Amino acid sequence: MIPLDAFDLILFGGSGDLAMRKLLPALYYRHRDSAADPQRARWRIIGVGREQQSRDDYLANVEAQARKFVAADFDEQAWSAFADCLDYVALDAREAVDYQHLAGLLAVEPAKVRVFYLATAPSLFASICENLGAAGLVTADSRVVLEKPLGRDLASARQINEQVGAIFREDQIYRIDHYLGKETVQNLIALRFGNMLFEPLWSRACVRDVQITLAETVGVEGRGEFYDNTGALRDMVQNHLLQLLCIIAMEPPASIDPDAMRDEKLKVLRALRPMQAEDIALRTVRGQYRAGAIDGKPVPAYLEEAGIPAGSRTETFVALKAELDNWRWAGVPFYLRTGKRMQERLAEIVVNFRDVPHALFPSATGERANRLVIRLQPDEGLELHLMAKVPGDEMRVRPVKLNLDFAETYGTRQWDAYERLLMDVIRGKLTLFMRRDELDAAWRWIEPILEGWERDPTPPRSYTAGTWGPAASSALVGRDGLSWLQDA
Ligand code: BG6
Repeated sequence: MIPLDAFDLILFGGSGDLAMRKLLPALYYRHRDSAADPQRARWRIIGVGREQQSRDDYLANVEAQARKFVAADFDEQAWSAFADCLDYVALDAREAVDYQHLAGLLAVEPAKVRVFYLATAPSLFASICENLGAAGLVTADSRVVLEKPLGRDLASARQINEQVGAIFREDQIYRIDHYLGKETVQNLIALRFGNMLFEPLWSRACVRDVQITLAETVGVEGRGEFYDNTGALRDMVQNHLLQLLCIIAMEPPASIDPDAMRDEKLKVLRALRPMQAEDIALRTVRGQYRAGAIDGKPVPAYLEEAGIPAGSRTETFVALKAELDNWRWAGVPFYLRTGKRMQERLAEIVVNFRDVPHALFPSATGERANRLVIRLQPDEGLELHLMAKVPGDEMRVRPVKLNLDFAETYGTRQWDAYERLLMDVIRGKLTLFMRRDELDAAWRWIEPILEGWERDPTPPRSYTAGTWGPAASSALVGRDGLSWLQDA
């Protein structure tokens, strides 16, 4: 493990769901595995929240949650060492005077790397930044991390960026998309740009279509109010799905420097063919789950979940056909799909290569191969589907898989995305974070869809919880004579 500089990490939303479920466990793992790092004694994590509570009470709460989320990896000794780094400050983010106590704590070692992690509602980002600036807490070595969703549309995203940009320089702003921290996404970059094999095939000449699926079995998980105001398009497509599309479709950058990578991703976002009003019905599908069963257990409809207003039209499922207007990808459909309460928890990218121009050998099963599957979740790995001869007398072929399972190959625990991204923030590595113009371009493409849906009086299509979404999603791909891998 590469040593880290000492740091102060100030975690706004320190008692919130993301902090408890992801951020504090990620920091625990990194702390546990950095025992040999001489700077570790100077790590400090300050949870910030509105609630008045003592450090001991905060620690007790964090520990109780960590036992749940870290589960079998919870180690008393490692935890106790980690807990020594933790502190708590009660503060109302909108109240300038409240920042004085924080200023007192930070004044002890002012030259340390300072990370302000804003895991709060985006409506608080501007006040927090302004108050940090006014209290003189933004040093040259400070960074701010902005959690998604960054705005509801282009205008609100721009406003937040303006307000944060008034206090922090662009190279101090880390707009996080945790999908970019997933090990397989990193591996996809390595696969594309560390091998000669795929690059000559990676274009319209050989690729027939690309499918990206981010399917979850969970519902809204107690986040009903937030989710109903957000919906799947803003929650998953505007960020995670478009970022994955960028990594698949980008040109090889000259280096992995942040701007070299982000320039190439930006070109992809700008090449996305804008959705015209008449495309919305043909190229997009929105759905909402009704009651059904997941793993044999009944689950309620979206409209019956806590915090969801009667008659809500918020989408819990989206399928889209995106196209890129550039030389490499013209004419290749990119089908994107995401949903809650789907049949399986699955995050995967399927690159379907074109069929051979003339089939010499009969297929024993009628299935096709010529496909690369990049699996992000649940079992991270790569599968290359090839045609091979069926043993025996006859010359018949059927698909077989070359399977690279990362857990099996490396035999180590896979880092959670947040572990990598937090370490990158502390080290000042911006490569895996979104630049302001990328965010603008993503919203610019999403906005006509939001507007089209707003104008459309028909409600989202209903799908049964525990399935692959509404039938219209299969029809979207079917109209091009293709099918989702799961329907094939
Ligand atoms: C978050 C969304 O960004 O990603 C959640 O807000 C979603 O709604 C989550 O559940 C999925 O992340 P992962 O890493 O569990 O696939």
